[in-house]
Amino acid sequence: MNITTREQAIAADKTDPLAPARDNFILPDGVTYMVGHSLGPPTKAALEAVDKCARQSWANGLVGSWNSAGWFDLAANLGDRLSVMIGAAPGEVMVTDTVSINLFKLAASALPLTQGARQICVDADEFPTDQYIAQSFADMAAIQCNRVEDGGDKAAIAKGGVYIKSAVNYRSGARVDMAGYEALARKSGALIIWDLSHATGVMAFNMHGVGAKLATGCTYKYLNGGPGAPSFIYAAQDLIPNLNTPLPGWMGHAKPFDFNPHYTPQDSAARFASGTPPILSLCALDGALESFDGVDMAALDAKSGALGGLCIARADALGLTVSSPREAAQRGGHVSLQIDNGYPITRALHARGYHTDFRTPDTIRFGFSPLYIRYADVWDVMDALGDLLASGEWDRPEFHARSKVT
Ligand SMILES: Cc1ncc(COP(=O)(O)O)c(C=O)c1O
Repeated sequence: MNITTREQAIAADKTDPLAPARDNFILPDGVTYMVGHSLGPPTKAALEAVDKCARQSWANGLVGSWNSAGWFDLAANLGDRLSVMIGAAPGEVMVTDTVSINLFKLAASALPLTQGARQICVDADEFPTDQYIAQSFADMAAIQCNRVEDGGDKAAIAKGGVYIKSAVNYRSGARVDMAGYEALARKSGALIIWDLSHATGVMAFNMHGVGAKLATGCTYKYLNGGPGAPSFIYAAQDLIPNLNTPLPGWMGHAKPFDFNPHYTPQDSAARFASGTPPILSLCALDGALESFDGVDMAALDAKSGALGGLCIARADALGLTVSSPREAAQRGGHVSLQIDNGYPITRALHARGYHTDFRTPDTIRFGFSPLYIRYADVWDVMDALGDLLASGEWDRPEFHARSKVT
């Protein structure tokens, strides 16, 4: 798709088969929301589900709702719904805890299955929480934590052990060849724990197809589960019987209401559940996932690639530095620009209604969730960016004041 005018962008929106999905979302007037890679906006169904859960199931059903409103099985049922989106099987995905906690649980469960290897690796430019968890787990297990510099990952996987790796880099948006890494891991006996936070809900991928064994990922980004929505954990069925979580809480027990003092895990990924699940959040996610019902992930992937391509073409025309891969097949859902004064520029865009985000020291990220971002939005945000740069308006003092969350 070659869009070179705003009229062409509008025409592309008119023929976009995904365009009707935008109606599912609640988006404030005057806001163009390009931060779905950080926190997805609410869907109408998600807010209705939370309201129903709070006012009916909690207020009227009280504790009985664990049975009557399906609360008890909700996390596992949501895992089954997610399994369809990531090419896994029912029972292989559980919604629980945060990505940080799940990385720890997976690392501890995976290490004993790596034929005596004594190392955990993580890319040196990986999302910080992944690095902190890898280091902390290595310290506890008295093994080596290897922060792998750019280009060293394949050699590190060839040495075996556990490797924590994002399918899409949080900063650059670069997507990795999961199948290629898994092929290397099969040879060396390494186990890769995929961080799918920036991949799920925006990209087409298939865990079985690429041979992936272990993963976790957020539900609050492109899945629109809401602030602090619990993450999901994936384990391939053939590994599950041998995976022992280091946090065996009662909710992962095969029969929690037997109140047995000894732990017997569930025989599915539900063994990774720890404590009582956050039901209001799970209800929000339940509603949010309706937006993906019947949606072809390949169509989502193609549209986010086309939106990103338009952003890159317009950034090139403005003479800006694009730090994301140029090929759509090598990008996730966002495009990053490397730019001086990125923070005040982000704030100035925000003041004009264009929400993007900033990652220190110099990166502005534009998130292209294909369910609600339009081609015309991409056209317009780049117009606004060009105008702010040309006018110097971004340099106003109020745009320099740093917020806690950038
Ligand atoms: C790649 C990646 N991993 C992990 C996280 C954080 O996960 P959590 O807060 O669920 O522990 C983020 C948050 O943005 C992320 O981008």
